[in-house]
Amino acid sequence: MSIKPDPQRITAADIGKRKGGTPIVALTAYHAHTAAILDRAVDFILVGDSLGMVMHGFSTTIPVTLDMMILQAQAVIRGARRALVVVDMPFGSYEEGPAQAFRSAARVMKETGCGAIKLEGGARMAETIRFLVERGVPVMGHVGLTPQAVNVLGGFRVQGRDEARADAIVADAKAVAEAGAFAMVLEGVVEPLAKRITAEVPVPVIGIGASADCDGQILVLEDMLGLSPDVPKFVRRYGSLADHIAEAVDAYAADVRERRFPDADHVYKPKAS
Ligand code: KIV
Repeated sequence: MSIKPDPQRITAADIGKRKGGTPIVALTAYHAHTAAILDRAVDFILVGDSLGMVMHGFSTTIPVTLDMMILQAQAVIRGARRALVVVDMPFGSYEEGPAQAFRSAARVMKETGCGAIKLEGGARMAETIRFLVERGVPVMGHVGLTPQAVNVLGGFRVQGRDEARADAIVADAKAVAEAGAFAMVLEGVVEPLAKRITAEVPVPVIGIGASADCDGQILVLEDMLGLSPDVPKFVRRYGSLADHIAEAVDAYAADVRERRFPDADHVYKPKAS
């Protein structure tokens, strides 16, 4: 028999049972050290394809590849021991159909050890979600503003302002839940729509830019820490990391230029002969 998996690790099924309960806490992470810090406080960590913007400086998530996701997810899994780790399926790795999605998701699960994957899209992805779940892949949905569709949506725009679009997003959310997703991210929608979807779908709805009516909240870590240069309006900042880094780097540069080398007190001595 194999060694039992870490009993502390939160599972997709645990998150799925939290509908209407204590709000679910989630953040993104892309590397081991931040994942290790978040692990104490969050229920799940999303290795989001937002890493394309945050780590690589792209303006959208479109260029992100499966290899990039797998590499960063491996780092996050090494850092986090308790939180569920969910990995985003990047653009182009699942949209062709269920078979392509399963191949990509199986690779992500085998190579990272994550507990679930996330994919974007509503009713049009229902068949794929069902296919994955029936074959052992826990799926988190993502509806509303779906950043991988930015070129079709015409920008990162709040969704659901008019009734027809709002109804379509409700139908998307229901289709994702009916297909077997254990939870879903609801991004960038107007407040009454977030409230309606959270009330009408039976699985936890994790909001981002979607009001306080959801079953939980997710933010991009670097946004809430004050590290990202461009932060969406709805993000509350809990830190000013960019300022701290700039101050520290300035202090270091000044020390070195004035020969106050930081390792001067710790020079290695030759062995006494
Ligand atoms: O990629 C990401 O970070 C996400 C969150 C914004 C939910 O999908």
